[in-house]
Amino acid sequence: MKSNYNYGSLAAFVDLTGFQWLNGYPRIFPVGSPLEVEIGFGTGEYILGLGVQNPAVNFIGFEQCPTRIIKTLRKLHQHGVANSRVMRIDAAWGFRFVLAPGSVNRVHCLFPCPWPKKKHAKHRLFQPAFLRLVRSRLKEGGTLRIVTDQQLYADWIEEQLAETGFSLARAAIGAVHGTKFEKKWQEGGQEQFHELVLTADQPYKSGPAEVPSVQTYSCDDFDPDRLVLEGVSGPVTVSFPEYLFDTKRNAGMVHAIVSEDQRMMHLWVVIERAARGWRVAPAEGTLVLPTEGARKAMELVFQAVEQSVK
Ligand SMILES: C[S@@+](CC[C@H](N)C(=O)[O-])C[C@H]1O[C@@H](n2cnc3c(N)ncnc32)[C@H](O)[C@@H]1O
Repeated sequence: MKSNYNYGSLAAFVDLTGFQWLNGYPRIFPVGSPLEVEIGFGTGEYILGLGVQNPAVNFIGFEQCPTRIIKTLRKLHQHGVANSRVMRIDAAWGFRFVLAPGSVNRVHCLFPCPWPKKKHAKHRLFQPAFLRLVRSRLKEGGTLRIVTDQQLYADWIEEQLAETGFSLARAAIGAVHGTKFEKKWQEGGQEQFHELVLTADQPYKSGPAEVPSVQTYSCDDFDPDRLVLEGVSGPVTVSFPEYLFDTKRNAGMVHAIVSEDQRMMHLWVVIERAARGWRVAPAEGTLVLPTEGARKAMELVFQAVEQSVK
């Protein structure tokens, strides 16, 4: 029986737990090998071809849709592709928290969601801030290649490029990628698509250099029966739905839900006896992207721990 959940192997799936981190970024591939990224790889036809045809290059794909990731994993497994990894992550977080500055040779994005209505334009991925972020992760001279079926979206991206550090080459191209969405538009009668090749060769103003990290705290005293956790709401919202304390192990676990940037993350924070005093840290095995929200959640737990003995 064919199952939609048959991913073949999880070898190519990256969930970031259990990775070695180097200067604030996960070490997914050996440093020094050429690295390329596909944004929104869908059902994986393109990243599969890239991996098979370029064995000396490493590939990372960012995609949000779980069922498409499963289909892609299956393809990569069936073709024995060893140089490609896929992640379930929003591309904006992928570029910010997974890819080190100046580490990427090429970025590919085929048929990104165009959000054609004007009132939805804020959802379009290639906003100036995202373009500057991608620019900062590319090597000098590296490229971001976008192909879209919508002239309106191609024109809009072109308008966003000022001061992002890219120069642009635009062309009309045929259907040459064989992806699910390209075939869909082709079957609907579209023969020409819009290609934008953005080269990272212009000066630009990057944000302050940031080494992402989540702080671990320690303190002298803690009363597990008097822990009162209070969340916050606003651009960063943190809530604490659960807290458990194991008196035998002298360790507690706090569940935090963090929402920010239209994204949500679950975080488990451990409060445990240390050689001296108490330690407050992300629980082992928790996936923590070092976002403002994750930092805020850690800070709130620590403040509550300190408050418990006041
Ligand atoms: C129109 S489909 C194109 C898929 C594939 N590239 C193709 O040509 O068949 C756009 C894909 O991008 C993914 N996507 C949209 N926004 C994303 C984001 N911010 N980060 C990662 N993936 C995203 C969607 O889940 C979807 O699979």
